[in-house]
Amino acid sequence: MIQFGKSKVFKKTYFVLLGLVCCSFIFPHCSPENESPIKEPPPPPAVTVPFPEAMYVQNGCAACHGMVGNGRGTRSHLLSNSRVPNFQDKSTYIYGSTKEAIAKTIKNGIPGTYMKAYAHMRKQEIDAVAEYIQKMQR
Ligand code: HEC
Repeated sequence: MIQFGKSKVFKKTYFVLLGLVCCSFIFPHCSPENESPIKEPPPPPAVTVPFPEAMYVQNGCAACHGMVGNGRGTRSHLLSNSRVPNFQDKSTYIYGSTKEAIAKTIKNGIPGTYMKAYAHMRKQEIDAVAEYIQKMQR
């Protein structure tokens, strides 16, 4: 009678088969049926890097407040009947010259004046512009 359990050939075949099964679990992509194109890694999430000077210009701040913050911008003459602060001179600020105070003014605006609320700007952006204005102070 042939005893499969004790046959050396059977044992060899058994181990080879066992090895193949294990391999197909460990390397499932090796078998041709599962071949799939290499997937690109997902793109990193979009990051807004505040570029304060660009935001100061793009949001129109420079037009009224001037490129250097002295209150003499390209549109300042249209605001002749209103007070335009001089960011360089802390004594001309009414609503505070700290970074926090400036950020609050930008976010809420000053009702009834040409200074509108920039509520659409992100906190990160507002803070960056506030810091930029603070650097104009002498
Ligand atoms: C259309 C013109 C105009 C634009 C645009 C404008 N401002 Fe103003 N801003 C003013 C005027 C006028 C005042 C003074 C309001 C008042 O009478 O108190 C003012 C006031 C301020 C103040 C308060 C200063 C204080 O007295 O304490 C800050 C800070 C300020 N602006 C920042 C900004 C920033 C930052 C931007 C752009 C995101 C901007 N402004 C855009 C006209 C403008």
